[in-house]
Amino acid sequence: MLAKEALPQPNFFYGTAWKEERTAILTEIAIKTGFRIIDTANQRRHYFEIGVGQALANVYGAGIVKREDLFLQTKYTYQRGQDHRLPYDPKASLSTQVAQSLKSSLEHLHTDYIDSFVLHGPASGYGWTDADSEVWEAMKKERDAGRTRFLGVSNVSLEHLEQMISVQKEIPAFVQNRCYAQLGWDREVRAFCQKHNIIYQGFSLLTANVGVLRHPFVHKLATQFNVTPMQIVFSFAREVGMLPMTGTSDAEHMKQDLESLKLTLPKDAVLTIESLAG
Ligand SMILES: NC(=O)c1ccc[n+]([C@@H]2O[C@H](COP(=O)([O-])OP(=O)(O)OC[C@H]3O[C@@H](n4cnc5c(N)ncnc54)[C@H](OP(=O)(O)O)[C@@H]3O)[C@@H](O)[C@H]2O)c1
Repeated sequence: MLAKEALPQPNFFYGTAWKEERTAILTEIAIKTGFRIIDTANQRRHYFEIGVGQALANVYGAGIVKREDLFLQTKYTYQRGQDHRLPYDPKASLSTQVAQSLKSSLEHLHTDYIDSFVLHGPASGYGWTDADSEVWEAMKKERDAGRTRFLGVSNVSLEHLEQMISVQKEIPAFVQNRCYAQLGWDREVRAFCQKHNIIYQGFSLLTANVGVLRHPFVHKLATQFNVTPMQIVFSFAREVGMLPMTGTSDAEHMKQDLESLKLTLPKDAVLTIESLAG
């Protein structure tokens, strides 16, 4: 069982999606600002993993951090989630694709192991399939060979998770999901994770919840604590047990996002936010 406290502090993910040629500089700034947990994917369509690797080379070279100070997470993405820039042979078996994808990630990130390897999304939106089981078995082999420490799944429903654990002996260490307040901040999946000691990584906490950021209750709290509505949302996410993720491209927002971890919201405020739109 992996506890959030066992991960590097601060417990906040810096997400590297959609940064293209700014990936390297922004990831470098994020690490200099204090982020130690980095999310990427070997999916060139949305991520520039080589840029993350450039940032790592720079911060190691400057003596800011060492590899072991960081928690690096990347993903295997099915072909349908990719464009033409594939990190594997699409004609190869899924097991081979998983191995090729991770091998290429290790090269991009200049390391011989990553901390977390995530299935970017199941093959079907309607349930856990045999293809997913083949991929999961291949991911376990990578973990057993020492190329990743932990495994995770992303973009999953409660149904996916229930079906997964009915056919797999091993459950993931992480679930990474988009978190909509309108869906009770993914309440059912979070409850499943809590029950099975899975760490829940919440993404798009801001972009998926514009209504919450504008809500008078959140504004009142922000004024009371002299913080921004975005900081209230990140603080809330931590207090309900999530490992929050930010995708900011702004150095000042990076600082604010980390600062939000210091804020402790009253329990009744947490409950109110949890029920704001769900
Ligand atoms: N597994 C998946 O399928 C999946 C899908 C999507 C994302 N992700 C991961 O999750 C990460 C985060 O996703 P996201 O970009 O949707 O998250 P997000 O943090 O909700 O959205 C980023 C947006 O929030 C703004 N922001 C962040 N901090 C702010 C602050 N303190 N004040 C004001 N604005 C702030 C950013 O603007 P500024 O740039 O101006 O700060 C940016 O427009 C991604 O980078 C990726 O690693 C995973």
